[in-house]
Amino acid sequence: MAIEWRKNFATNDPHIDEQHQQIFRFANKLETIAQQADVDTREVDHLLSFLETYIQNHFRYEEACMLKRRCPVAQKNRSEHVAFKAFLTRNVEAYRHNGYSQQWAQQLFEKLENWLSNHICRVDVKLRDHPEKTTASSSAANR
Ligand SMILES: [Fe+2]
Ligand SMILES: [Fe+2]
Repeated sequence: MAIEWRKNFATNDPHIDEQHQQIFRFANKLETIAQQADVDTREVDHLLSFLETYIQNHFRYEEACMLKRRCPVAQKNRSEHVAFKAFLTRNVEAYRHNGYSQQWAQQLFEKLENWLSNHICRVDVKLRDHPEKTTASSSAANR
């Protein structure tokens, strides 16, 4: 089942919420590939390289936001990101080593889906309690 955006994923930071939605699109693309009988592995290569780069950039951005806003879960967020990056690297290496299989794609999708929903709802959403300090006029402009 594709991972859908829900309100409880909202961090109320428009950049981070958009980045999470983009990561969901990548994950769902992987699920679509996993359902195909005939897979073009160039498409898998492309998706993995986008996913890895996008996630790296997202993590960097989000970690900087948490530090800047003195969010109490900043360290926890960072260490979960480190563990997740290692997991993703292991999976990409397994794919490079063993080649594509439907089982590999399906398992990676399921893990992405579980990790993303769990991590975002538990850690990233803490940003809600620590909104970026803006001047009255700029916060009004953002509404
Ligand atoms: Fe995070
Ligand atoms: Fe995040």
